Amino acid sequence: MNKVKIDDVEIAYQDIGFGDPLVFLHAFPLNQKMWDAQLSELSLSHRIITFDWRGFGESSSGTKDSSMPVFADDLAGLLDHLEIENANICGLSMGGYVALSFFRQYPDRIMSLILCDTKATADTDDGKRARYELADSVRREGPSALTSMMIPKLLGSTSLQNNPEVVKLVQEIIEQSQPEGVARALIGMAARIDSTDLLEKISKPTMIIVGKEDILTPPDEAIKMSKSIASSQLNVIKGAGHLPNMERPEDFNQCLNNFLQKI
Ligand code: MLT
Repeated sequence: MNKVKIDDVEIAYQDIGFGDPLVFLHAFPLNQKMWDAQLSELSLSHRIITFDWRGFGESSSGTKDSSMPVFADDLAGLLDHLEIENANICGLSMGGYVALSFFRQYPDRIMSLILCDTKATADTDDGKRARYELADSVRREGPSALTSMMIPKLLGSTSLQNNPEVVKLVQEIIEQSQPEGVARALIGMAARIDSTDLLEKISKPTMIIVGKEDILTPPDEAIKMSKSIASSQLNVIKGAGHLPNMERPEDFNQCLNNFLQKI
């Protein structure tokens, strides 16, 4: 694992392979390990960058809020450090929220977008309240406040019934999370602005991926986004919930390969 100081944080990252850069943005409350099943295959054709958001995995929390624009600035700082002018950006869920923020802040740095199991809308008032309550619980009780609640939402019913390895892996990743980083990201997600207006401005090649069994950001959200982005294509992955790259890695990697080959 490499580490670099960017602004007020130390960001842990991996940089593997050669070719056009493909940067993976991880979901909440996970870390860059969620992309392990993509590394060996996609690094055959691309320079792959994975990293931990501030306050997750092995990255420090820093002093700033973990807002989506701050996460996007961290991503820009990491790309500067790696001397990457523009890249294919693949964000899943919270990673997708940041990908949209990155598009708002740094549109010229995007070669293509891959938006997985995410949405453009902001939280409802009830959704915001639930995030503040969860942030308090995580600060008090640590990541155990998250595990039993999140696993049934993150994984599809097929994985929950038939794939104990992926259940264990997601559980382990959540249990390693940093309480303060998780709490700050919850507050950052609650504060995120609606990005629906951005969608029709996206003209770069875009692929939208969603697990058919995703209950957090269901296929309906993906269909809505794909209708608003003229340059997009939609892929629904069967037998997967909110984390299709972990639940159905072969299908997910094949979608990415098919899409990236044409860029
Ligand atoms: C994620 O997977 O990143 C989260 O489910 C996003 C969210 O809580 O909105």
